[in-house]
Amino acid sequence: MKTLDRMVRVVYMSIALIAAVAMFAASAQAKPRTDNDSITKSCGLDNATKTILIAYDTIHGSTAHIAARIGDDLCDMGFKVDVKWVGDVADVEGYDGFIVASAIYKFNWLPDAQAFLEKYKVQLAAKKTAIFIDGASMSQDTEKTRAAVKKSFIDPILSKYPDISPVSIGLFGGAFDLTRKNEYTLFEKVVLRIVGVILRLPDKKKVDWRNWDTINTWAAEVGNQMK
Ligand SMILES: Cc1cc2nc3c(=O)[nH]c(=O)nc-3n(C[C@H](O)[C@H](O)[C@H](O)COP(=O)(O)O)c2cc1C
Repeated sequence: MKTLDRMVRVVYMSIALIAAVAMFAASAQAKPRTDNDSITKSCGLDNATKTILIAYDTIHGSTAHIAARIGDDLCDMGFKVDVKWVGDVADVEGYDGFIVASAIYKFNWLPDAQAFLEKYKVQLAAKKTAIFIDGASMSQDTEKTRAAVKKSFIDPILSKYPDISPVSIGLFGGAFDLTRKNEYTLFEKVVLRIVGVILRLPDKKKVDWRNWDTINTWAAEVGNQMK
């Protein structure tokens, strides 16, 4: 009996250890996984009256593509725009407005996006700032999910930075594609397979919930706020 107890305990401890290692490995890799997953771009005329920085955080690139699309939309509206992964932003001098964005992972903003808010909170509070997030929790864009997502992923972050009062908050569906080679860790694959089952996805390997019309509409709203 004692031997059985010990064996059960060893099994439980092994599972806990493996889970802890997997979670640590996943959080230790909260950076753009490959060069293709981050986008750096600038657009707009040099003599534009306002310059905006879009600083986003991503692991697998979906957020980078949303940021790049919003950048293009704002340049079409006459702004000069820099789009960068948060970790590539060396300083924020000279910008008239900011858009800060993060993909949601494990019920939170990515660590580098949070570090960006902390580092530049004074500058962000002093200028017009908008924020957006994307994730599986916005797979359905309804009033109910919007309220729940705002409560879970926006309010806790903003409560840390009461001086930052966003001119607009974008809530977008995210994306994943498990058919991309060498892109996802085992932990991520397991999580996304579970997401696929829970959300009853027709194709469990990939989905794209990003609604480009919603994203373009939000970009136009932000542009109007920042004029
Ligand atoms: C390990 C893991 C955890 C995730 N956790 C969440 C979560 O807590 N909430 C959510 O809405 N989406 C979650 N997602 C989905 C991502 O937010 C979504 O796929 C997002 O678009 C990924 O952005 P990226 O491609 O820019 O990294 C998770 C995805 C993975 C792989």
